[in-house]
Amino acid sequence: MLIVGGGVIGLSIAWKALDAGQQVLVFDRGEPGRGTSWDAAGMLAPAAEIGFEELDVYALGRESLSRWRSFAADLEAASGRPVDYRDDGTLLVADDRDAAEALRRHYEFQRSHGVPVEWLRAGEAQDIEPFLAPRLAGAVYSPEDHQVDNRKLVEALRAAVIKLGGQIHSNEAVQAVHTHPSRPAVVLASGETVETDQVVLSAGVWSTGVDGLEPAPLPIRPVKGQMMQLQMERPFGLKHVVRGPGAYLAPKSDGRLVVGATTEEMGFDQRVTAGGLYGLLEHAWEIVPGILELEVESTWAGLRPASQDHAPLIGPIAPGVYTATGHYRHGILLAPVTAEEAVTELVRGEPSGHLEAFRPGRFVR
Ligand code: GLY
Repeated sequence: MLIVGGGVIGLSIAWKALDAGQQVLVFDRGEPGRGTSWDAAGMLAPAAEIGFEELDVYALGRESLSRWRSFAADLEAASGRPVDYRDDGTLLVADDRDAAEALRRHYEFQRSHGVPVEWLRAGEAQDIEPFLAPRLAGAVYSPEDHQVDNRKLVEALRAAVIKLGGQIHSNEAVQAVHTHPSRPAVVLASGETVETDQVVLSAGVWSTGVDGLEPAPLPIRPVKGQMMQLQMERPFGLKHVVRGPGAYLAPKSDGRLVVGATTEEMGFDQRVTAGGLYGLLEHAWEIVPGILELEVESTWAGLRPASQDHAPLIGPIAPGVYTATGHYRHGILLAPVTAEEAVTELVRGEPSGHLEAFRPGRFVR
């Protein structure tokens, strides 16, 4: 199996395919794991991150979340590296009455799906998370929304793939695919052709840049997210992921506090702007005022791979070519279900019921 793209999706498929006895090669146009997966926040949060209009993604997200604990434990065992899986839960907060109304609707939606969310007044929310602003208009505690350190995760995936005998090639862009039912091949930027038995295209926003997939490239576009990393210092010590109307804060066990993110339609632009950071800080400060004292360690802009309906594309796209891409905001969350179900299809040839709503063919007229 030859995997194009070594982000969290490509590396998870590689790991699971190796586990199922396959030989695996991964090609990444840069440093594997250092693209969108590195730029993420690591929230495993279908309750907090997926809206009511996205029922299929929501169901897939909950399925994937239910697999995350064992995925993390197995990966730590396979790689010998920690991934900082944390199940402290997420607090969704509203800073004014409008936001509280929207949050209330979100809360009712979660309840109607049997999710054990809890409505809290400001004081009750502060009992759970003392660093919240004192005058919030409402909050929802979502104990089932967890998180992981996405950077540790991709490093662990790389280590596991290598330990199991997979080959990972950095700085090797794939330019084109030659489709064939049993002997497909890829053409590298160097001109070299590499034959394989199956190609998996999981290159996120770069999936559109691979030629040979007629009649059209995959309908994926980048959606920019500006973010920053603050360093937590005592007495400040946020414990939970906190999500407000304009910003989220994800504290990691090593003291990093990831604050995100803008949502911008700017193509492949990865500039960090004053306005982007100003907006983030303002929204984050409104819900967790203590961040103003913290040191800014770094800022960046990531590119989320989005399809037209913001749901992933997973399934065969051409003879000998399968794709798993377009995970938009949910790549880290959806990695276990994507990898496990894709490997079921690719290795055992059994169609996965979990993936039916996500076939790439839904965009072909
Ligand atoms: N999942 C976090 C984001 O898209 O900003």
